[in-house]
Amino acid sequence: IAFGEEQEALVVRSWNAMRKDAADIALKFFLRVFEIAPSAARLFSFLRDSNVPVDKNPKLKSHAMSVFTMVCESATQLRKKGKVSVRETTSKKLAGTHLKAGVIDEHFEVVRFALLDTIKHAVPAMWCPEMSAAWGEAYDHLAAALKEEMRLLS
Ligand code: HEM
Repeated sequence: IAFGEEQEALVVRSWNAMRKDAADIALKFFLRVFEIAPSAARLFSFLRDSNVPVDKNPKLKSHAMSVFTMVCESATQLRKKGKVSVRETTSKKLAGTHLKAGVIDEHFEVVRFALLDTIKHAVPAMWCPEMSAAWGEAYDHLAAALKEEMRLLS
C-alpha cells in the first residue's frame, strides 16, 4: 500500500507519545543495537575515545535522536512526495561520515530491527502491525537514500 496520511500519522502519533521520554528511549535504542551487534560500538569515535561508560555518553543519545527525527521527516516526505531525499547540503557529508566510520548494510539492518523493537516497547498500547510497517517503510527509504549516497562516494 502507498504511504499516505494514515501511515504518516502512525509515525507522528507514536513519536509525539515518546517525546517526553525521548532521551531515555533514544539511549535504549542504541544500547539495543550494541546488544545485537557489540562490535558496532567501535564505529563511534566518541565511544572509542572515551572512558565514560556507553550508557552515560551524551553523544550516543544525540545520534539516536538524529535517527528518530530523520525517520519522522522521512515519513512526511513520503506522504508529500512519495520519495525521500536526504537534504542536498547534508547528504554528502552524512554519507561521507558513515562511509569513513565503516558502516555497512548489515548495520542498517540491525538499527532497523532495534528501532522497531524500541518503539514497540516504548508505546506498547499503540503498537500494531500498521505502525510497525509505517516506521519500517519510512526507515527503509531514508536508509536507501543514505546508502545510495555512500555508494556514489565509494
Ligand atoms: C554519524 C544519522 C545510521 C553510525 C551520524 C550523524 C547523523 C547520523 C546525523 C552525524 C552526527 C551525529 O548525529 O552523531 C543517521 C541516520 C541513520 C544512521 C539518519 C539511519 C537512517 C547509522 C548506522 C550506523 C551509524 C546504521 C552504524 C551502526 C554512525 C557513526 C557516526 C554517525 C559511527 C559517526 C559518529 C562519530 O564517530 O562521531 N549519523 N545514522 N549510523 N553514524 Fe549514523
